[in-house]
Amino acid sequence: MDNQLLRILLEAKDFVSGEEMSHSLGVSRSAIWKQIKKLKELGYRIESVNNKGYKIMSSPEKMIKEELMLSLGKCSLVEEVFTYDTVDSTNLEAKRKASTTNIHTGLFVSEEQTGGKGRRGKNWVSNNGEGIYMSLLLRPSIQPINASKLTLVAGLAVQRALYKNTGMDCKIKWPNDLVLNGKKICGILTEMSSEIEVVNYVVIGIGINVNNDEFSESLKDIATSLRIEAGANFSRKSIFVSVIHELEILYTEFLQNESLDFIIDEYNQVCINVNKNVKVEMNGTVTIGKALAVDQSGQLLMISETGQNLTIHAGEVSVRGLYGYVD
Ligand code: BTN
Repeated sequence: MDNQLLRILLEAKDFVSGEEMSHSLGVSRSAIWKQIKKLKELGYRIESVNNKGYKIMSSPEKMIKEELMLSLGKCSLVEEVFTYDTVDSTNLEAKRKASTTNIHTGLFVSEEQTGGKGRRGKNWVSNNGEGIYMSLLLRPSIQPINASKLTLVAGLAVQRALYKNTGMDCKIKWPNDLVLNGKKICGILTEMSSEIEVVNYVVIGIGINVNNDEFSESLKDIATSLRIEAGANFSRKSIFVSVIHELEILYTEFLQNESLDFIIDEYNQVCINVNKNVKVEMNGTVTIGKALAVDQSGQLLMISETGQNLTIHAGEVSVRGLYGYVD
């Protein structure tokens, strides 16, 4: 009932009387009062006025399930939203749910991660309340070979969402990072369970550095946050909702023919690697050359320093600038 009460208060434009709520929820006035107290403890600022009732004046920064669901509206991407105060990794949690329950699709968000995972065995800094740590569990009817394209779809969705929501013009570092002023602001980790021809499920994990104040000595030259770059805090909730809305649009279109045709021009425009010298490391081999473009199947086209045309698949690959993270 606490969720329903929150929903009523969030949806209402004005005060809602205790009597009205106790009537529509079928509980006593004192039960309503107790729930209001709980919401206040969670950080909601609720005004109560005699003969008028209750009104939410402001919400906490915390990602609260009811509020996220309400803001997402009718979302065709996922059936259910799961929120956590803490979890080892939202990707791990999504995979556990996918294999041990009959949940079809879901969105997993946590305030912090104790074992946030990056690609290639790296960690993802996931301090409490600073960033957005989210994973989408999807079951697309696509060829397993096309699943890695979803990382590019997600990258563009985050790029668009950050631009629309904060005005920050991030670039995509193919295949799975977003960068701002030359430093990493978002990482994407796509994992899949499949048979030869069938995808069982895909988990798209997205980490966005939003309100981080600083990074450790070893990361501070390559990682940044929206707060560090803009000198102001941002609402994780509204960024989160924008990312899901953009992803919903792009994912729906992608499923039509499993190709990146419809976004590839835009993708190349915001891809920081295009026309840059790059150092590509794959299976222990390093290739130096110039990145030319990303093609419709999501592969990076490059010309090596010895003049060879190469097509790099977005697998376990690291792409860097010749002198640093980007340049
Ligand atoms: C990378 O840059 O290597 C990918 C980082 C992905 C981090 C996100 S945070 C939410 C989700 N849960 C994880 O453990 N990892 C992803």
